[in-house]
Amino acid sequence: MDNRPIGVFDSGLGGLTSVKELMRRLPQESIVYFGDTGRVPYGTRSDETITKYVFQDIRFLLNFDIKLIIIACGTASSVALEKVQQAFNIPIIGVVYPAASQAVNISTTGKIGIIGTPGTINSGSYIRIIKELAPDAKTFSKACPLFVPLVENGYTMNEVARLVAQEYLGPLKDKCVDTLIMGCTHYPLLKNTIEGIMGKEVRLIDPGAETAKYVKQLLIDKNMLGQSGIVPTYKYFVSDCIENFSRLGSLFLEKEITQSVEKIDIEKY
Ligand code: DGL
Repeated sequence: MDNRPIGVFDSGLGGLTSVKELMRRLPQESIVYFGDTGRVPYGTRSDETITKYVFQDIRFLLNFDIKLIIIACGTASSVALEKVQQAFNIPIIGVVYPAASQAVNISTTGKIGIIGTPGTINSGSYIRIIKELAPDAKTFSKACPLFVPLVENGYTMNEVARLVAQEYLGPLKDKCVDTLIMGCTHYPLLKNTIEGIMGKEVRLIDPGAETAKYVKQLLIDKNMLGQSGIVPTYKYFVSDCIENFSRLGSLFLEKEITQSVEKIDIEKY
């Protein structure tokens, strides 16, 4: 048993898709969340810059005596996971493996689409794991750089979002994929829009939610679950404007988070 909190971070709001699922599956676990809102997006930056940011994000979270870190960001997981796993003496889990393995498990035709930030798609991270698990799978990927700013501005279900999604997803629909990995943790917030273009028969994989499931099993296996019945604490930190994060974050989480958001200077870490 381990009552220390779980640390979760992302470049912004996207990692809340993982937090929401953690709260549902592991209601006794306390969470410290960091959204690097002052430096979002990560997905269009160089590997070197992303790696520097990820090290800073982890050093910040380590101030809270956490038991495990979830990199709730497809880009950071794709670019920096192995480096930080080697550098820090704490379990660090990325979103790519849990999402890729779920896609392989549920795809019946083996035609798997992957959408993500340019950083994620250029890294080839999802394809590498899919091919390891299912060498015959056929993968089709597409970078969708405008999706993150749409989500960060709350444009998840309007006509603008639909037009952008149509532009990005049309080619994947033409390939007849039966499973689509929404390979950036911001994208599940556009789920209805994405589903509207791809059709309901295409299975959509939410990497943050898959990672929450994976982490639950890991905590069980390592005997690191928090004590059941305990009242958890949730702390949120951002590197820029609190109001936007609180307002949109509360909407996405379906839970009021206004009281507990603090702004920090991430450059100090
Ligand atoms: N939510 C992130 C991801 O999963 C980051 C998006 C970004 O900052 O570009 O890739």
